[in-house]
Amino acid sequence: MAVLRIVSTGDPDEEVLHRPAARVREFGPELHRLLDDMLETMRKAPGVGLAAPQVGIGQRISVIEYPDDEDDPENTMRVYELINPEIIKKKGSEVGQEGCLSIPGIAADVDRCTYVLLKAQDRTGREFRLKAYDWLARIFQHEIDHLQGVLMTDKAEKLYRLVKNRDGEVEAIPLEEKM
Ligand code: CO
Repeated sequence: MAVLRIVSTGDPDEEVLHRPAARVREFGPELHRLLDDMLETMRKAPGVGLAAPQVGIGQRISVIEYPDDEDDPENTMRVYELINPEIIKKKGSEVGQEGCLSIPGIAADVDRCTYVLLKAQDRTGREFRLKAYDWLARIFQHEIDHLQGVLMTDKAEKLYRLVKNRDGEVEAIPLEEKM
């Protein structure tokens, strides 16, 4: 496995972050290697979600790692590999503060659905459906937006700069103007 370079806004190649990604049609070793590398890249960052455009690849692929059950004391993590994901049902609305590996140092308040039903393919091409609520639903919507070329800053109601205070804690300082 290899750690890939994450494309950030402001990079010369940031255009890949702003255009819709292409459907995946080949489910072979090349895709499997990319999924493994994306997982390693996301863990190293560290982050909870990473979409292929964020590593410069304009394909509808995302990896997510999130606890299976937030109340589980063992905090067992679950890895989701989403190929060609689509939201087929959604409900509810809640504003929450998000971050993005491609927009370092910034947080955004974004209104998201609190429930989504997804359709996607796994690494072998098999189709599956997945329900998610609350924070996991938010992560899925953030990632699927990446695959449409949409960033959290495009939808944000409010933006914050993340700064470390004297105690080394990260604070979110509101930005006056939208970026
Ligand atoms: Co992101």
